[in-house]
Amino acid sequence: MTKTVLTGIKPTGTPHLGNLLGAIRPALRLAEDPELRALYFIADYHALTTVHDRRELRRLTLEVAATWLACGLSPERTLLYRQSDVPEIFELTWILTCFTPKGWMNKAHAYKAKAADNAAAGAPDLDAGIAMGLFSYPVLMAADILLFEADLVPVGEDQKQHIEIARDIAQRINHHYGARLLTLPSALIDDGTAVIPGRDGRKMSKSYDNTIPLFAAPGALRKLVNAIVTDSSPPGAPKDPASSAVFKIFEQFAPREATDELRRRYLEGISWGDAKAALLEALEPQLAGPRERYQALIAEPQRLDELLAAGRDRARALARPVMERLREAIGIAG
Ligand code: TRP
Repeated sequence: MTKTVLTGIKPTGTPHLGNLLGAIRPALRLAEDPELRALYFIADYHALTTVHDRRELRRLTLEVAATWLACGLSPERTLLYRQSDVPEIFELTWILTCFTPKGWMNKAHAYKAKAADNAAAGAPDLDAGIAMGLFSYPVLMAADILLFEADLVPVGEDQKQHIEIARDIAQRINHHYGARLLTLPSALIDDGTAVIPGRDGRKMSKSYDNTIPLFAAPGALRKLVNAIVTDSSPPGAPKDPASSAVFKIFEQFAPREATDELRRRYLEGISWGDAKAALLEALEPQLAGPRERYQALIAEPQRLDELLAAGRDRARALARPVMERLREAIGIAG
């Protein structure tokens, strides 16, 4: 039987090389599997927990849509929609909220981390500055997943707990109203997913402000690559590929033979300038096509809106019967 794979992309930052390797490419590969039906959506209401500028939220949302399309998502094959376009998600959120023990939310990582920050800062109120949206974030995420009867949810390790919560909530509801009401989802965590270093050598992440944006113009891309940290060993001195951020990024973008070749040159004492030039040369041909498509897409926000509207109609057509079944089951009859 065809399985449903679903994931949400939170529009909170400009997409970078780490997103491409860690999320976009693996998800697009899954979407090509004929045994799977892929639903990928922009979790704009999740972003509202942190993005409180209206223009910024709209811009980031369109950026996500353009990015995934530019990287090869086929909107006929893969359902792409905006979370906020599917009101059924929010109706389901309430139902789930009524079956979610508050204690589960107390234990959710994001909330716990904020409360711990408050404790560390000696705040008298551990909940200071914490909105209900952050607290119940996992319930909205459970609704995203359960509404579409997702079997598999590809996510990073940091989201695993959320999928477990979704599964636990579904089980409670099934136990109460009937065994098969909701499909139990499983997290799909790809251990082989590459984590690449950013410009400062730490994991590439928006929160470290060390990213290389996917669609930087060629000149900007060169500057960013040149800004990647290296040690101070001079040209001619052998260099260790395993501890070089430049090498680690290269390796993810270049074919095996090119990587072997660069490893040899490191041991022979390649200059950092030449190593960076090699990285640029590996990146540019892979980024040029998507960059061009991205620019074309982002220049036509109306077309993106139309595409998302088509996704919305298809998504709601899937959601409605599930919601009807649920309403009926809980006694909110139409
Ligand atoms: N919370 C996820 C993140 O921060 C985004 C997300 C929202 C999501 N809803 C989802 C992921 C449903 C998978 C399934 O990246």
